[in-house]
Amino acid sequence: MGNAGFARLQELDKQFHIHPFTNHPEMHAEGTHIITRAEGCSLWDETGRRLLDGLAGLWCVNVGYHRTEIIEAVREQMERLPYYCSFFNTTNQPAIELSEKLASMAPGRLRHTLYCSSGSEANETALKLIRAWNRLRGRSAKNKILSRTFSYHGVTLATASLTGLPTVNAPFDLPLPGFIHVPGPNDYAARTPLSAEAYGRWCVEETAKTIEREGADTIAALFVEPIQGAGGVIVPPPGYLAALRRLCRDNDILFVADEVITGFGRLGRNFGSEVWDLDPDIMTLAKGITSGYLPLGATMVSDELAADLLKPGYLAHGFTYSSHPTCAAAALANLKVLEADRLVERVRDDVGPYFQQKLRGFVGHPAVGEARGHGLIGALELLPPGGRAALKPDMALGARAAKIARGEGVIVRGIRDLIAMSPPFVISREEIDQLFAAVGVTLDKLWR
Ligand SMILES: Cc1ncc(COP(=O)(O)O)c(C=O)c1O
Repeated sequence: MGNAGFARLQELDKQFHIHPFTNHPEMHAEGTHIITRAEGCSLWDETGRRLLDGLAGLWCVNVGYHRTEIIEAVREQMERLPYYCSFFNTTNQPAIELSEKLASMAPGRLRHTLYCSSGSEANETALKLIRAWNRLRGRSAKNKILSRTFSYHGVTLATASLTGLPTVNAPFDLPLPGFIHVPGPNDYAARTPLSAEAYGRWCVEETAKTIEREGADTIAALFVEPIQGAGGVIVPPPGYLAALRRLCRDNDILFVADEVITGFGRLGRNFGSEVWDLDPDIMTLAKGITSGYLPLGATMVSDELAADLLKPGYLAHGFTYSSHPTCAAAALANLKVLEADRLVERVRDDVGPYFQQKLRGFVGHPAVGEARGHGLIGALELLPPGGRAALKPDMALGARAAKIARGEGVIVRGIRDLIAMSPPFVISREEIDQLFAAVGVTLDKLWR
């Protein structure tokens, strides 16, 4: 397609297309980017320019773009059975095989899966199952939900209420009643004199106080991302998650691991719950389950929960696309690629440590306040000239840096005053060098 063709598409986009999480006047003033194709860790835009995707789409294209194994599996499934529902005592082969596969991979007691099409729906499903479970046990009053500041759990009414970000809550008059935010362990944002570990202990104490104030018999569950992703890549300090897990157990509060980003290898283990030995009662999944090739979400529950929920009879929850055969086929092929190419081990032993080493190479850079990460996810907190004292609300250094980085040929995510990165697992050391070289130039330009 020539320039005139793209200009027409951009005009049509402006007229008819509402984008997610976008400042439309700004975008319309500058013009929309159109991604035309992708391969490995590279994207090409309307100008024919190659961009290195340092974010794996939206933290999801873990096996990289254009894996023919997934494309072929989807094509074959589409030809045989593109769609059929799992209502009416019916199902399909890929959904069955995927459920068995997930049961064999998942940590601890999680062996039963209910499917949907996104991370938001996976968490929404978890919320409904939790409500139903407590109702069945005659304790409908145990229905409040805890989540943490800086968490991201989705955008439906209930999951946006879980999400602990004012930018997601405030424009919609959320959270809904019954959703309570306790402090997430973001010691950097808190500007606390405490060490990260001591701040983590304070966060657990505050959570305990909240439980005591509200009454444990009114609190159903706590939702936890092992690493808080979209809230700014917040890595839990030592001891923090274990203490939080214990607190839930002691108060008969269900522990839900939201592994939408951390699931399927980004931290060098199949699940973040394994890294911190969380033994969740419920785990929610999406993104990396298909590496983003097709939409699929999953809510996994323990044997105990499944037994209680399924025994009484009719379970009135599920979607048209629950257990979608083509999405399940994409997931099975994606998990096969992960195993055949030993990509989780690659994150654990090779590119993960190398990525972290390069990330931490920016510690001490005058434009960097903190470098943090784990496996193949990381963030740099940015500083203006004058350092932290000169930081002002709404400086949006992250968005400014992400724009400069794009000009340098790499995609990173700008969040508040930080940039986040989570490249595909197939990224090479040379591409990691390229990513961080561009980040280095970006930091210099940010200060110019
Ligand atoms: C941890 C986490 N949970 C849930 C979601 C929501 O997923 P979706 O955008 O597929 O609804 C996201 C999306 O980024 C996420 O990072």
